[in-house]
Amino acid sequence: MENGRREFIKKALYGLFALLGLSWFFGILRSLAPTRGQERTLAWFPLLPEDDVPRQGVRKAELVTTVAGKERKGRVFIVSSPDGFVVLSAVCSHLGCLVNYNKGKKEFQCPCHGGRYDLTGRNIAGPPPAPLTKLPYRIEKGMVMVGVRV
Ligand code: FES
Repeated sequence: MENGRREFIKKALYGLFALLGLSWFFGILRSLAPTRGQERTLAWFPLLPEDDVPRQGVRKAELVTTVAGKERKGRVFIVSSPDGFVVLSAVCSHLGCLVNYNKGKKEFQCPCHGGRYDLTGRNIAGPPPAPLTKLPYRIEKGMVMVGVRV
């Protein structure tokens, strides 16, 4: 009788350890698998009426986004040409300062470390390692809507 109980306890412990081992193994597998469903989605926010976009030149604008009840304001530039326009984020690709537009030189300049960008947003001088971010836009009922990953 004593041997039967010992055998039962032994097998129960083996079973328990096997279950713990399996759950640990699958936990490791899950942590190594590529994450799904955590990609940021593109949300659209109104920037300004289409009629306020200049036919040519650069206009600074404030983009207000509201995500999960939190309102954020960001600076963007609309760069217009006869071919259309682009919307550029004003956040410098170096360390995140906000760039300004220099009308005389027709370029964007970062006040922090002297980074410079041309009108397409391409980094042309200084430490910025990448261009300014070009934001997607679409026109909806006469309003320029800008896409931001949230
Ligand atoms: Fe813009 Fe450094 S943050 S050049």
